[in-house]
Amino acid sequence: TSMLSTGPGLAQLDEATGARNRKTSSGFPNDFLWGTATSAYQVEGAVNEDGRGPSIWDRFAHTPGTIADHSNGDTATNHYHLYKEDIQLMKALGTKAYRFSIAWPRVFPEGAGSPNPKGLDFYNRLVDELLANDIKPFATLYHWDLPQALQDRFGGWTSRDTSKAFADYAAHVTGRLSDRVKHFFTINECSRLVHLGHEFGADAPGLKLSPSDVKQVRHNVALGHGLAVQAIRANGLAGIRVGPAENAVSCIPAIETPANIRAAEIATRELNAGYLTAILEGKYTDAYLAQAGKDAPKYTAEDLRIISSPIDFVGLNVYMPDHYVVAADNERGFTLAPFPKSFPHMKATWLRPGPETMYWVPRHVAKLWNVTSIYITENGTSGSDQPAADGTIYDVDRIMYLRNYLTQLQRATSEGVPVLGYFLWSLMDNFEWSDGYEQRFGLHHVDFETRRRTPKLSASFYRETIARNAVA
Ligand code: NOJ
Repeated sequence: TSMLSTGPGLAQLDEATGARNRKTSSGFPNDFLWGTATSAYQVEGAVNEDGRGPSIWDRFAHTPGTIADHSNGDTATNHYHLYKEDIQLMKALGTKAYRFSIAWPRVFPEGAGSPNPKGLDFYNRLVDELLANDIKPFATLYHWDLPQALQDRFGGWTSRDTSKAFADYAAHVTGRLSDRVKHFFTINECSRLVHLGHEFGADAPGLKLSPSDVKQVRHNVALGHGLAVQAIRANGLAGIRVGPAENAVSCIPAIETPANIRAAEIATRELNAGYLTAILEGKYTDAYLAQAGKDAPKYTAEDLRIISSPIDFVGLNVYMPDHYVVAADNERGFTLAPFPKSFPHMKATWLRPGPETMYWVPRHVAKLWNVTSIYITENGTSGSDQPAADGTIYDVDRIMYLRNYLTQLQRATSEGVPVLGYFLWSLMDNFEWSDGYEQRFGLHHVDFETRRRTPKLSASFYRETIARNAVA
């Protein structure tokens, strides 16, 4: 037998860590759900069709100087019209789940008030087509495309009126889709929408607010999440599951000693104190409030009760290590190692691969807050994606990245970390926000002249992984 074969060694390791085992081979759990992900503004196009209202991303992308290649999402991948073809791509991969987002301005062109039935019709068609192809729909309610009307009227997320409007919209949408859609994510990446959208101005709505206003925005987003959870529950819909989809700040033990692991857990709790920790604990940590000082958000005890409304799962977008952590005998109990300047990066320079992030983030979340259902709501990378002379896109950089991350995910599931599914970002190249179409994250190449989709080599890698239910 090969020295690399899994056998007594692995079993011993499991016993040593006391972990539960859902499956002992080198594979994933039998019921593991494989999927892909996209979001409305990044793929749909059709921004002026069927009564859709403008969103803050339409406004932002059409403002000169905001998008690297001066592009916008007006047509994007034209998924609005090509969704049937795209569902066949999902099917060819062997995926059984698809995470998409619903464009709020399609459903409520003015953000609130009277709904536009044609807006929801698109999602009805999409969902029906998914189910007809045996693919489970997972819908994100907010992936950053706020109706412009709410930005104009209330200042968007700077006001809790937006949090309330979000809950009304969430109740409306879930009420109409819940006979077929059972899984809803509230808000995608609170952290990025707060920092890039409202602190650095690099994402819509392009604001550069003061530290106290930034913290208030984060609070309002958390409140929006909680109000939406409550509004969905109030509908009394059977079998609906709901949770956030967050890019939690990732804290990796620099060396895997019990003390460093504990320190990384503490760091995870503290560095996510403004959102995930508040959702799961119903309080802002003392350290968060002390550090914020006079810039702390204004809130009531009732707000925190709403924010921490029970959720059914935690969705995690996992891309990169944010911090390597070492245990320390200081007030916080940890030290963040300065991020190494020599670290490699993918095509997108911000994306520094650290595959172990895929193991530690879900493990910390499960351990810290006793979370028993986790979905990896996004993971992926942009790549070089140059067609070779034979026309094939040999995106071995993406394959390298995915193989390493999935190996770490397999490590997690085999130790009993309750990850139920994985959504690869993305099904196809799309509008990568302020990077425009220059950063391609797809398993399928999209020609943005013809909108033709072509599978890259990584699509074969993913198909093979899904077929084996083990890293290919
Ligand atoms: C996370 C975001 O949710 C998604 O919209 C974006 O395209 C990917 N990260 C890649 O940057």
